Amino acid sequence: MTTNPTSPNGAAVKDKPDTTEPIVELQGAGKAYGNVRALHGVDLAVYPSQVTCVLGDNGAGKSTLIKIISGLHQHTEGAFLIDGQAVQLSNPREALDKGIATVYQDLATVPLMPVWRNFFLGSEMTKGPWPVRRLDIARMKATADQELRHMGIILDDLDQPIGTLSGGQRQSVAIARAVYFGARVLILDEPTAALGVKQSGVVLKYIAAARDRGLGVIFITHNPHHAYMVGDHFSVLRLGTMELSAARADVSLEELTNHMAGGAELAALKHELAQVRGVDVEELPEAEDLKTPTTTAASTSTSAEGKS
Ligand SMILES: Nc1ncnc2c1ncn2[C@@H]1O[C@H](COP(=O)(O)OP(=O)(O)O)[C@@H](O)[C@H]1O
Ligand SMILES: [Mg+2]
Repeated sequence: MTTNPTSPNGAAVKDKPDTTEPIVELQGAGKAYGNVRALHGVDLAVYPSQVTCVLGDNGAGKSTLIKIISGLHQHTEGAFLIDGQAVQLSNPREALDKGIATVYQDLATVPLMPVWRNFFLGSEMTKGPWPVRRLDIARMKATADQELRHMGIILDDLDQPIGTLSGGQRQSVAIARAVYFGARVLILDEPTAALGVKQSGVVLKYIAAARDRGLGVIFITHNPHHAYMVGDHFSVLRLGTMELSAARADVSLEELTNHMAGGAELAALKHELAQVRGVDVEELPEAEDLKTPTTTAASTSTSAEGKS
């Protein structure tokens, strides 16, 4: 089951107006690593000019999901479609050729190289005929400068080593780079996880800028607040399955937070603690802060099991 009482899965997606078809789509997709089933029955649709947030606790399957979409791993069940065509990508290059760019948490930058150089890393501009072909430094600098400004990123000096930029600024250079090199889908794996509040704000701003440039953004995070600031659609993974998939109009920040916090699991844990250790359950913090219309705070392990 991939649907959820709060969010008629497919319906939420179809609510989105208009002419556009998803660029990337997963239909009942899953992935097993040998005997370990990391992902199962996942539906996801990524539209242009939208931010699709994928939320979930550690081990929920977020990285596995984006590894499939970015061509690093192959799905072992269901379908993966790009522009409506079923595909089986064999490496990240193929994904990139189809316009799917991934910005990993540990950014593939060379800290001591200048910003402009990192912007073109691996795709340098050259001038002159072979064998006197050389780097076209002036054009790379000018282009990097123009592209960064286009995204609203103002840096004092593109000659400074990228390692001297803040984490948020480095992420934004990576986003601008992906946009410049023609990405249609931008995958960001926990870009705000290691950042403070202010730096996270910087990254969220450029996620919105990429969306405004028409990209479909897949924003992986375990922070519902960050997700809710920029998200158009929210997919929550738990233990490898999608337990919530809802358009912004159909889910509140409170509900999202509750799904992330695992309100039902907390209730089940309390129940177990009481049995095992004779803990007075009444003394434990209540889950009602996390209450949603679909899960009552008083739920027992029975209702918790019913949900998963
Ligand atoms: N290469 C792998 N081999 C075996 N198991 C894996 C591999 N990668 C991930 N897993 C398992 O798949 C599950 C989901 O992991 P992952 O996708 O990394 O979750 P997340 O990114 O949400 O933390 C975990 O139980 C993890 O141990
Ligand atoms: Mg991960």
